[in-house]
Amino acid sequence: MIKDSQVQKENQNQDNKEVTAYQKGTIAIIGAGKLGEAIIEATIGADFFKPSQILVTNKRKESSERLKTRFGVQTSTNEAAVREARVILLAVKPQMAKNVLQTLKPLLRIDQLLISVMAGVTVSQLKEWSGNEPAVIRAMPNTPLRIRKGMSAICGCDTVPDEAMDFAEHLFATAGRVLRMDEQLFDAVTGLSASGPAFIYIMIEALAEGGVKAGIPRHLATELAAQTCLGAASMVLETGKHPAVLKDEVTTPAGCTIDGILKLEEGGIRVTLIKAVEEAARKAAALGGK
Ligand SMILES: NC(=O)c1ccc[n+]([C@@H]2O[C@H](COP(=O)([O-])OP(=O)(O)OC[C@H]3O[C@@H](n4cnc5c(N)ncnc54)[C@H](OP(=O)(O)O)[C@@H]3O)[C@@H](O)[C@H]2O)c1
Repeated sequence: MIKDSQVQKENQNQDNKEVTAYQKGTIAIIGAGKLGEAIIEATIGADFFKPSQILVTNKRKESSERLKTRFGVQTSTNEAAVREARVILLAVKPQMAKNVLQTLKPLLRIDQLLISVMAGVTVSQLKEWSGNEPAVIRAMPNTPLRIRKGMSAICGCDTVPDEAMDFAEHLFATAGRVLRMDEQLFDAVTGLSASGPAFIYIMIEALAEGGVKAGIPRHLATELAAQTCLGAASMVLETGKHPAVLKDEVTTPAGCTIDGILKLEEGGIRVTLIKAVEEAARKAAALGGK
């Protein structure tokens, strides 16, 4: 009789073999713009892929040449890259997805994995436009991925092999945190964590302006504001405490913080942030034609 632990070990070996196979092959980044570049930087930085394993394509040749000079990756055309790659990461604008995929459809194979990072484009649209050949995974990362502090969500569908999901999880985990989430939540994820860095940058800029107004030199004010955001975010993640509890810990009765909070509430900061996420999520859905 085979023991459970032995079966588990064999399954793990099986998984590792497949993860290694995806990881050992070539990845084609179709549309290597800002997000594609962030993924290149993270995966090379983490030694997940060697530059020689990465093929990049763009509309303009010079966009790809710049990445070749910076990272030593290979430049290619969409067609040649898809012929060669085991994994295809599609990072063009959502509006171009249908056109690009339908052109590549005759070249796509059943042993390939297609990972889309495009906002709003669903797994079922991707499957339809790619001719149902490759396994399809949808991911929604964000640009702090570049310095391996990213937040990504991934989802597949029933037909995606476990090894492919494991591989995608490994890939994005090299660049930060990853959550497997229901696809129904992906537009909301786009509005929150993909657009979110822009919202936070505005908050850092504004906090720093507050420091400048109070007499702190701008470069020091920016560092104070950014490190404060980093520290507060880390407190939420590392203590597991509710943000409201952490906020109460800073807010001494009759102290300074409560006066500041009063101004934030007067300005409608909560409603503004909620609406920002809601609006960005609505736009993500519209980009996918929903
Ligand atoms: N930026 C983010 O924070 C973020 C976060 C999550 C998801 N996303 C998603 O990631 C995708 C890319 O966003 P991005 O910000 O990286 O945009 P981007 O910088 O504009 O990148 C898009 C790239 O696609 C290339 N391209 C255009 N037509 C092409 C074609 N026919 N074949 C191959 N490449 C083509 C462009 O090349 P040229 O430069 O030569 O024109 C450009 O480099 C979007 O779908 C977006 O929804 C972005």
